[in-house]
Amino acid sequence: MIPEDVIDQVRESADVLGIIGESVQLKRTGADWRGPCPFHGGKNRNFAVIPKKGLFYCYVCHEAGDVFSYLMKRFGMDYPTAVRDVARRSGIVIPERTVQAGPDPNEHLHTAVASAHEWFTRQLESLPEGEIARTYLAGRDIDLPTAKRLGLGYAPRGKALLEEMHRLGISDETLLDAGLAVRRDDGSVAARFRGRLIFPISDQRGRIVAFGGRILGEGEPKYLNSPESPIFSKGKSLYNLNAARNAIRKEETAILVEGYFDVIRLVLAGIEHVVAPLGTALTPDQAQLLRKYAPAVTLLYDSDQAGLRATFRAGDELLRQGVRVRVATMPAGEDPDTIVRSGGAGALQPILDDAVDLLDRKIQLLAARGWFEDTEHRRNALDRLLPTIRAAADPITRELYLTRVAERSGVSRVVLEQELRLQPRRYEGPAAPRAPARTDVQPASEPDGARAEEELLRLMIHSPLWRERARELHQPDHFDVGAHAELFAALSSLPPAEPATQLPSSLSHEAELKWIELRRAAYRLEGADLDAIFTATSAMILSRFERREIERIIDPVERRRREEDLRRRYPKAEQARWLQRKVRKKK
Ligand code: UTP
Ligand code: MN
Repeated sequence: MIPEDVIDQVRESADVLGIIGESVQLKRTGADWRGPCPFHGGKNRNFAVIPKKGLFYCYVCHEAGDVFSYLMKRFGMDYPTAVRDVARRSGIVIPERTVQAGPDPNEHLHTAVASAHEWFTRQLESLPEGEIARTYLAGRDIDLPTAKRLGLGYAPRGKALLEEMHRLGISDETLLDAGLAVRRDDGSVAARFRGRLIFPISDQRGRIVAFGGRILGEGEPKYLNSPESPIFSKGKSLYNLNAARNAIRKEETAILVEGYFDVIRLVLAGIEHVVAPLGTALTPDQAQLLRKYAPAVTLLYDSDQAGLRATFRAGDELLRQGVRVRVATMPAGEDPDTIVRSGGAGALQPILDDAVDLLDRKIQLLAARGWFEDTEHRRNALDRLLPTIRAAADPITRELYLTRVAERSGVSRVVLEQELRLQPRRYEGPAAPRAPARTDVQPASEPDGARAEEELLRLMIHSPLWRERARELHQPDHFDVGAHAELFAALSSLPPAEPATQLPSSLSHEAELKWIELRRAAYRLEGADLDAIFTATSAMILSRFERREIERIIDPVERRRREEDLRRRYPKAEQARWLQRKVRKKK
């Protein structure tokens, strides 16, 4: 969104020392400035800021980057926010987004929902009838200032909302379209939420677009949500995501809970990286959305049968998006709300710490039922496990799962792999063998070519052996990203046996940053299957290079022929999902 040249200008103008110096005590040592590293929390001065290059680097934890990455990693800002923050300090004016040409056709809906929200919160604060909601909240240990901070509200019974909205000039038509009103059978219009506690639901830009309403007292349904509308899609939104996303980025993981109150309770206890779906099973879109912010998710659902079933469904959905999934298990009868309410964040922490990988959790449950003890049960156990292996879009996760299941079941990998290629069997989680099967296999997501390039460069930095292999196979123009091509050339020119420790000279700023970043993460390759990474990344890079070449061919017949040929030679490459997270997060 922010033009590249403006970003460069901001970077060059940045007072790196001043900005980092606000949160780290820096002292001059030679050309650098040193201080205790805020990332691994070290006490010694291993954290260096190099003002001349605009970079920071920790000699112990290898955290490194420029002023933007500092703000992102340290304070969870996203990239544009970091750029704007630095720009503001340097007095550079970045024009606000001007992309949206013309008025937003949904503006009136946003206005209606925002006005209703404002009104709901006022009813909770001071309406006499709101006492029922205030008492209810007090009963759940949530005081009024807290409720206010969370944006909670109260929707009274009757027509008061409609009257207030009309007074503001908002029509019934708009209220209906915004999901704030319903049309009754007799044609009259009524408020959708009546006598309910209101939870605001935000979109990714932080605008409130919908509500969840909990009944107070007896009644059905317990929770009522806004319907789909031009500004709200339930299956594409997550409760609290907007508020949580910086925390999620910072933690590099998200906690997924079942309900509104679970989210609120954790947030109040200071655990911010928490979200919930909106009264449905986790959808592929929601999983994908989460994946944008976190490479890993911890599922923290109720431990009853329904909760378990939902856990494994959500887990497989996340695996299909290449997310690493862990399952936290609560004592029977508890949910995150009750646990934190009685024992604070301290009571939840051990539960989160004890979370185990999704597949391992499944194996635990099946083993507890004795399903690995005889042949017949073992077959059933496999039927429960295979769908999860199949769901794993990340090739390394899949690989690890295969090995694990082969070990546990005593069935050879070859046979398991064969079985995986067959149609998915009926399956709905260990708790509900008879529930309807899900048969739709999600296509693998778009592979990320730039990431493959990074991975290969990381290998080249990791050891001279891989550098040599890459040099034999590749040339700079195989790389799509300029800085990558440059680094590849620099690395290839190193003497064969020499480890890549010195910064190759005369690199561009971009390539230099890349070098620091990749080098920092290269140690994380320790123990990974380097051969698999090499093969997969190389195939991806080559096929993308050839694809770019083909795109230049004008003759359609020749082009088609080359495309066919390409597909034949690299059947897997375009499907390979990116390993980066796996490699990075490997335990
Ligand atoms: P629960 O029934 O477990 O709700 O449903 P909860 O969070 O424990 O609610 P409290 O503590 O009794 O208030 C979990 C979530 O499922 C959705 C809501 O998002 C809820 O938070 N749900 C539940 C609905 O959408 N509709 C319902 O009727 C029930
Ligand atoms: Mn609950």
